[in-house]
Amino acid sequence: MILVTGGLGYIGSHTAVELLSRGYDVVIVDDLSNSEKFILHRIEEITGKKVHFFPFDLRRQELLEQVFEAFSITGIIHFAAYKAVGESQIIPLEYYENNLFSLINVCKMSKKYDCNNIIFSSSCTVYGQADVMPITEDTPIKEAESSYGRTKQMGEDILKDFARAERKRVALLRYFNPIGAHHTSKLGELPKGIPNNLVPYVTQTASGIREYLQIFGDDYDTPDGTAIRDYIHVEDLAKAHVAALGFLEKKLSDTVESSIEIFNLGTGKGSSVLDIVKAFETATGIPIPYIIVPRRAGDITEAYADPSRANSFLNWKAETSLEESLRSSWVWQQSLN
Ligand code: NAD
Ligand code: WQD
Repeated sequence: MILVTGGLGYIGSHTAVELLSRGYDVVIVDDLSNSEKFILHRIEEITGKKVHFFPFDLRRQELLEQVFEAFSITGIIHFAAYKAVGESQIIPLEYYENNLFSLINVCKMSKKYDCNNIIFSSSCTVYGQADVMPITEDTPIKEAESSYGRTKQMGEDILKDFARAERKRVALLRYFNPIGAHHTSKLGELPKGIPNNLVPYVTQTASGIREYLQIFGDDYDTPDGTAIRDYIHVEDLAKAHVAALGFLEKKLSDTVESSIEIFNLGTGKGSSVLDIVKAFETATGIPIPYIIVPRRAGDITEAYADPSRANSFLNWKAETSLEESLRSSWVWQQSLN
């Protein structure tokens, strides 16, 4: 049985589907702070499998313990966290409290109930503005740009210490920019409140919810002046989690040593904001009106992954094209209207 925390969220729900399709049993803990119960039924609809679901806050250690008592959990994929960068600058303590205490409780239970494989949702944000592109796992970690980013750096440190002290296998997965929706269009990113990321702004502009897209700066030192990121389809990302779990499980049978494995999960290709606008227009035929506004505070110029470590160790690679990813975001957006 695999525990998926935050399993009704954007990346967690896609990963739950992928796990169930590969024959794993799944138990989800999610407090619905940034998700909706109907996503559970969608996961079951897509897979035709039953999912055990417990709606509580992971900071409630006694409730988490009941889940470990009830199921024999052999692996944990820990997605649950607050993730809005801007908000983390306004209410930092809530970010530290949720993201760190939830993680610590997960670690405590994995220790008490002898669960040896843990996968952690980290982020390319831990690198800040790297000096050299593409970013490898050896690229130095810099001062984080936000409290959110610091919770990811601290989360990684907690897990490194924990893995060493308790002889656990841990994979730190550093996602670049997840986009897109499930090919069935039954799952995708829910627009709770104001979106945080570029693609939901693009799809909301396409659907007329917004008059135009604001592009934050065209004076970056990049070919077209707009900032560059590595946009990876969420289903590709979900598959990487299953590959990482298999990798940890295999390590477990090979050796008794503890280990920390770090993987960058991206496509390896950088795209500018204007590239995204053009690719969206090509994929859907819908024009995206935009205006250029000043840079957004805390934004970096460029970040794209060298995913070759994940390619070779996990036998995984991002396969969905940018156009296809953006088309899936658009189909999902329309299903919300
Ligand atoms: P999401 O908000 O859609 O999913 C997170 C889920 O966790 C939500 O369903 C929320 O209700 C739940 N949750 C939060 N705190 C909880 C708690 N204390 N107890 C129980 N449930 C709780 O986010 P996502 O985009 O799916 O991101 C998943 C993980 O990946 C997060 O850790 C995030 O920081 C990380 N990440 C996301 C991105 C991105 O751009 N989406 C990029 C890099 C890393
Ligand atoms: C992408 C590009 C914006 C909105 C964030 C987190 C990072 C990680 C991934 C979690 C940037 C530009 C955006 C808009 C725009 N998440 N933009 N107009 O900033 O790379 O990273 O998500 O770990 O930690 O910081 O992603 O999607 O917000 O922005 O021009 O309306 O789009 O300036 O260049 P970002 P994003």
